[in-house]
This record gives sequence, C-alpha cells and structure tokens, in this order.
Amino acid sequence: MAVKQNVKLDARRIRADFPIFEQLEEGKPLAFLDSAVSAHKPRQVIAALKDFYENSYGNVGRGVYALAERANAAYEQAREKAREFINASSPREVVFTRNTTEGLNLVAYAWGLDNLGPGDIVLASELEHHSNFVPWQEVARRTGAEFRVIPVTGEGELELDELERLAGGGRLKIIAITAVSNSLGTIVPVERLIAFAHERGAIAVIDAAQAAPHRRVDVQALDCDFLAFSGHKMCGPSGVGVLFGRAELLQKMSPFLTGGGMIRRVSVEKTTWAELPHKFEAGTPPVAEAVALGAAIDYLEGIGLEAIAAHEHELAAYALERLGELPGLTLYGPPLERRAGIVSFNLEGIHPHDVAQILDAEGVCVRAGHHCNQPLMHKLGVAATSRASFYLYSLPEEVDRLVVGLERAQKVFA
Ligand code: ALA
Repeated sequence: MAVKQNVKLDARRIRADFPIFEQLEEGKPLAFLDSAVSAHKPRQVIAALKDFYENSYGNVGRGVYALAERANAAYEQAREKAREFINASSPREVVFTRNTTEGLNLVAYAWGLDNLGPGDIVLASELEHHSNFVPWQEVARRTGAEFRVIPVTGEGELELDELERLAGGGRLKIIAITAVSNSLGTIVPVERLIAFAHERGAIAVIDAAQAAPHRRVDVQALDCDFLAFSGHKMCGPSGVGVLFGRAELLQKMSPFLTGGGMIRRVSVEKTTWAELPHKFEAGTPPVAEAVALGAAIDYLEGIGLEAIAAHEHELAAYALERLGELPGLTLYGPPLERRAGIVSFNLEGIHPHDVAQILDAEGVCVRAGHHCNQPLMHKLGVAATSRASFYLYSLPEEVDRLVVGLERAQKVFA
C-alpha cells in the first residue's frame, strides 16, 4: 500500500464532477471534511445509477427474458470490476454485501461459529471500529473462544511487541484487523500481521473500509484471507459493499444468510448451496447499487489510487501543520508518515459536539463523537474527538476554513 509521491491530481477539476459542491451551506461553499463517514458522489456514478434504473433494471439470477439478462450481465460486470480493483484471482471470491459491517459479520458468523471453540484465541485490536470488534467479541462469547485485543500506544499505533504473548502459544485462530484507523488515520502494517497469523496456522480478516477508497489494496499481495469494504465511502452508492474471501475458505463455509438465490436444490429433507459467490448472496442483492459501484471504481481508477493517496497525504501534512499552530488544541494519532488523510483533535475545554456545531455554521463539516471506537477513546482518555477527513475533492483552503472556524469556537467559549 505504498504511496507514490510523483503523481498529482487536480482536486479543483475533480470537484466540478460533484453536484453537491454547487450548493451553498449556511450561505458558504461546502467544506466537506467528513469523507471518512461517507463520500460524495460524482455525476458519473449518479448517471450510471439513473441509466441502469431507466434502461436495464431487473432482478439477477432469476429471469430468462432479455431485460433480466441485461441486468444480470451488468451486475456480473460490476463484480468483475470489483475483482480487478482489489486484484482477487477470481470473481468467485468477490461477494456483494450491504457494507463493510455485513462483510465482517458474514466472516465472524459463517466462519467463526464453525471454526472457533473453547481455548481458541480471536485477536482484534484497540484500533478497531465497532464493526470489526463487536462481531468477534460476540462470536467468541458464543463459541467459548477467547477475545483478545492488541493494545495501542498513546499515538494510536499497535503495540506489536505484545503479539507473541497475545497469540497464546498456538491457540490463535484468527486476527481481525483494520488497514487504516477510522478515528486516527493510523496506517496499520497489516502485511506483518497477516504473515504472523499464517505462521501460526491462523487466518487474517482485514477491515479495508478506510483503505480501499484511498490507496491501492491488492488482496494477493497482502495474502489476506478475507477483506471487506463499502461502496459509499468510495464515491459509490450506499447499500452495497464487497467481501473478498479466499475461494478455498468460502467453499468450506456454511452460508451466512439463507433463502432465495443461494441454493442449488431444496427439498424437505435437505438443501444444498449454489456455487460461489452466490452461496453468500441470499435474496435480491443491491443490483443497481453494485452497477453504480462499478462506475465508482472506473471513476477512481481513472484518477488513480496512487494520486488520491498522495493528495490526501499532502492535505494531512498541511492540516497537522496548521492545527499544530493553534494553542489549546490536542492532536491525536501517529506521525504523518504512518497516517492516512484523517486528523482527530480536541480543543481544550470545548466539547467536540460544540466544536462541530460552530464549524457547521461556517459551512465546515467534521465528525464529532466516539467514531464507533469506544475502546480506543477509553484508551486515549477522552469521551470523544473532532475528526477531519479528506478525499480526492478536498482542498487546502478547506483546512484554512477549519482553522478559522476553530479560532471562532475558541472565542465563543473563551
Ligand atoms: N465508519 C464511519 C466513520 O468512521 C461511519 O465515520
């Protein structure tokens, strides 16, 4: 997931593709610094969604008429784009889900319930979003396995010296780890953790919700067993996500949800399952959303993931510099070289919700709260932070407007 520094994108030109930026918020241009929560959509993606509904809409895997076949072909073409996007070796390894959370729950339940038992260790980390924490904690509770977490340093980086002790001398069965922290932007050395898991006969599941939209993710190079991400954070529609799983593992797993579309044969005595990936796509999937996700992948690839990562790196550098100048501001997270385009902070004596409201009045959107990361907030000794996060359409002057808004908050609460 290296960042090439020699490619540059033109954020101002890119911004013209996003209708949302044509409107004013509070009479001011929208400074949207909350793309980690969900990204805005370019015309190309909105047009693909509209075009599919207007001209090719149908259910998939069911109809024999031409319209249904056209819909099916578009859906499978989107799967092929998703496969290529993460360099999976086969479309059989690409399951469409609703979002990252569903992908991670699928692995936790469909793999975990059959493969974990008393004495086994499930290892996550203090950095995990609740969606890669709570399902594992719950499946461990149900199976009698032990749920452990890799602690983080005060700067929000994993304490890797603890790994050997936490692995419990051969009892480790799975490591569930995020590639990029949604709260702090920490870039996690997932390759090292995946190799560590494999050396001990365990498997590794990667939460790529904050990585796949922003930097090149290659599941073969990573050598991970499962990896999940969401469409809505990468300029695609909400309601669609992707789970990559190694075919060999998916093949052996029980289904997560059962019903229509995922069976081979059903009788009163017994039901058998459809081929991969359909075995994991029960019910009508998010057909149009998957097709529009394909358009989002084309859009991001047209700009280049390397250029997007480099742009966000520059913005993170600028934000750390500018915010660092403000008295009474505490920055959280790792040094710039191990940080994605996410900057979390607190202003002394002002609750993050108040900060976010004052910024909103300036047309600046940030997220305030625990960011679905309560164990991490506990570790940092705070209830909440304010978080600015960047994407391909973010501009340096939006960082300047953030700083002006924060100065205003300080005056209001002085
Ligand atoms: N996971 C999203 C965030 O961090 C919702 O804001």
